[in-house]
Amino acid sequence: MKKDLLGIADLSGEEIYRILDTADAMREIGERPIKKVPTLRGKTIVNLFYEPSTRTRTSFEIAEKRLSADTLNIAVASSSVQKGETLADTAMNLEAMAPDMIVLRHACSGACHLLARICRSRIINAGDGMHEHPTQALLDAFTIRQHKQRLAGLKIAIVGDLLHSRVLRSNVLLLTKLGAEVCVCGPPTLVPPGIERLGVRVSIAVDEAVAGADVIMMLRIQQERMRGAFVPSLREYFHVFGMTAERVKRAKPDVIIMHPGPMNRGVEIASDVADGPYSVILEQVANGVAVRMAVLYLLAGGVEEGSHAEAAA
Ligand code: CP
Repeated sequence: MKKDLLGIADLSGEEIYRILDTADAMREIGERPIKKVPTLRGKTIVNLFYEPSTRTRTSFEIAEKRLSADTLNIAVASSSVQKGETLADTAMNLEAMAPDMIVLRHACSGACHLLARICRSRIINAGDGMHEHPTQALLDAFTIRQHKQRLAGLKIAIVGDLLHSRVLRSNVLLLTKLGAEVCVCGPPTLVPPGIERLGVRVSIAVDEAVAGADVIMMLRIQQERMRGAFVPSLREYFHVFGMTAERVKRAKPDVIIMHPGPMNRGVEIASDVADGPYSVILEQVANGVAVRMAVLYLLAGGVEEGSHAEAAA
C-alpha cells in the first residue's frame, strides 16, 4: 500500500480486495477470549477528530488496541485548537512526538491530503468534509461481500442526501471499481452535479431506484452541512424518499439494508426497517473494527500477499 490512506480514489481493485481479505483474517481476533495480538506493539497512533464521531473513532481505537498499538485520542474541544492553532501547526507539533500514524477526521475536504504532504507519519482519512470516508466504504464492501459472496454484478441503490455525503463518494468509487451496478437516488436539490460521470445511474424516484436491488444503502440527511432549504420539510422528505417496509418489498427478496449511521429515524429510514430482518446496520459497525485493523496492519507494513493469516497469529 501507499504511505497514506486518503481515499478510495487512490486504491486499485487489487488493493481493495487485499484489505477485505486481510479483514477476514482480523475478524477472528475479535472472537477470541483475549482479543489482542502483538502486531503493532511499539507503534504509536494518534486519533485526531475535529468532528463528532461515535462509530469511526471508537472502532479505530478498538482496532489499534487489538493490534497492541499505543493509542492517543486528541480531544479537539480541550486542545490548543480552541486557542486558534491551525491544523498544520497542530499536526507538526504532534509529529514532533514521533507518532507512526495519524487518523484524521476534519470538516474540510482535503484536510487529510494537506497532512499527508507535510507529515512523516502515515495519515488515515477518517472522513474529510464532503470528500471521502474510505474506511466506511471498505467496511460496507466487506459487509456486502459477507452476505452476497461477491460485489461484481450486484444491483446497489444508494438513497438519501447525496450532495453532502463523503460516504456516497467513497462507496461509488469503490463499488463501480469492483463492478457493481450502482443507482443513486435523492431529491434533485441533493444530487451532486455530474455524479453520473462516476459511472452511476441517477434516479429521483425511490420506488424505481430500489426495484430489484440486492442492496439498499440509506444515507443520512446532513442538516449540519446544509446552508439553506434543500427539502421542504423532514416529514415530506420521509414521505417521498424515506425507506419504509412497503418500499423494501420492491427490492430482491434477500435484499440487505445498510446505513453508515448515525440514523435519523423517521426521516431517511423507518424504525421497523432499521431494526428489521433485512437490516445489517449493526453488522456494519462490528465489521468496522476488523476492516480498520486490516488498514492499520497493511499501512504499517503488512506481510507478503497471500499470508494474511500471519497477521492474526
Ligand atoms: N459512519 C460514521 O462515520 O459514523 P460516526 O460519525 O459515528 O463515526
